[in-house]
Amino acid sequence: MFWGIFLPVTGTSILNVATNLLSFAEGSEALRPRCSWRGPAVQRVSLPLLNSFAVRCLMVSRRQLFRYGSAATALAGSGALWTQRLLASPLQAAADESFWGSVRNEFPLEDGLIFLNAANVCPASKPVVEKHLEYLRDFYANPSFENRAKYEELEAEAGRKLARVLGAKPSEVTMTRNTSEATNTIVRGLNLRAGDEVVITSHNHPSNNASWKVLAKRTGVVIREVPTPLDNVSAQRLVRGIEGAITSRTKVIAFTHVTNTTGIRYPAKEITALAKGKNIWVHLDGAQSFGMLKFSLAEIGCDSYASSMHKWPMGPLEAGVLFVKDGRQDELWPSIVTAGYSELLEGVARFGVLGQRDDPRLVAAGEAAAFLERLGMANVEARALHLATNLKQRLTRIRGVKILTPAEEALSGAVVKFRVEGKNTQELGRALWSNHKISGAVTPRGDLEGIRWCPHIYNSQRELDRAADALHLLVG
Ligand SMILES: Cc1ncc(COP(=O)(O)O)c(C=O)c1O
Repeated sequence: MFWGIFLPVTGTSILNVATNLLSFAEGSEALRPRCSWRGPAVQRVSLPLLNSFAVRCLMVSRRQLFRYGSAATALAGSGALWTQRLLASPLQAAADESFWGSVRNEFPLEDGLIFLNAANVCPASKPVVEKHLEYLRDFYANPSFENRAKYEELEAEAGRKLARVLGAKPSEVTMTRNTSEATNTIVRGLNLRAGDEVVITSHNHPSNNASWKVLAKRTGVVIREVPTPLDNVSAQRLVRGIEGAITSRTKVIAFTHVTNTTGIRYPAKEITALAKGKNIWVHLDGAQSFGMLKFSLAEIGCDSYASSMHKWPMGPLEAGVLFVKDGRQDELWPSIVTAGYSELLEGVARFGVLGQRDDPRLVAAGEAAAFLERLGMANVEARALHLATNLKQRLTRIRGVKILTPAEEALSGAVVKFRVEGKNTQELGRALWSNHKISGAVTPRGDLEGIRWCPHIYNSQRELDRAADALHLLVG
């Protein structure tokens, strides 16, 4: 039974006092508020605009209350205070199936489907789908310039939200159609000459690997490809591999935050630091990190970053983000120049001028960022890592299973890749789908042969247990 609903539109100061008390009790880092409803911005939100998910975030059961520590109990006079505590303590909240069950209800997933393919595309949440539909109807009902004028501000607002989640400035973030386009904007936009060297890794996605090789063929740029280790992965080994490929001619390091192949998390900050003082451009592919890991691009320090909204951020299909650090944007040539382009366009905006855009989709992308902000990226990360770690532990107990993803959370995200020795991977993948409706991805052969399962916040522990049981049943 839910006992408390508290809308903090007028309660900011009470909340601040409570947060300070909690910080005093347990240390400020763990208790830093993550919810977007705290602070002055929330006071602009009118009650009818709070959707059902936001309201549910503000509800908590008595049972949950008593499960979490004395500080929360002492301040149990308000549901919001408790919710603040719950969401400000990601590690504890990560295992709360009842809380995450209510999050799952915000996704229009089919009953019985165990969807474990976040690395490919994710379901969008209901608020995102509803926002998208609302603006699609608006757009097609009245496609006049006059009606569409409002999209400029709506998209700017979406960009500001995305920038906040990325830990970047709004002037550094623009919306593309996907990661591939954003990365290719960097590949084609940098002013590289024959003999300049680009360091890539062997597990970069083709958009950040083959794209550089095509450029090399055309221009004489030299590619240095660092093998991504398949075992004995360590942060030191990953950093050293890239460091060893840097020469006085290196102009670019292009690597992947979390790989889609085996799910290795590269130490992004440490690798970016290798470029310091050397005038090397660092490009980071974040297709498997944005919307899953909590990070700040300002802290990582890379020069550019690319990601897709339709993956872990659970946004609309065919929407992406491109980040280019302030101060480096003038080093890039635009790959697409069309109506609306101007050298006077400030910041990264000139790389988001791509012809007529699908405005409703871009508004929906902003809603996906708002959804992540409401949950708090620390909570999203903690939940996804919790599920992925449990999944790896369950899988290791199945005879013949070899997990290709590092066990350590610091070296992985929520991409889990495994194979079963002596079993035909493709047939296994088919049986998991046809007998158990488990949706993953299959690499049928080669070094990377295996099945990829990627849990995200809409999955429950029960689903993962069922998936592991199904695999167990199939492999005997
Ligand atoms: C690491 C990585 N980079 C880039 C991409 C390309 O993403 P998109 O097809 O959305 O451009 C993917 C797609 O799976 C990926 O996993």
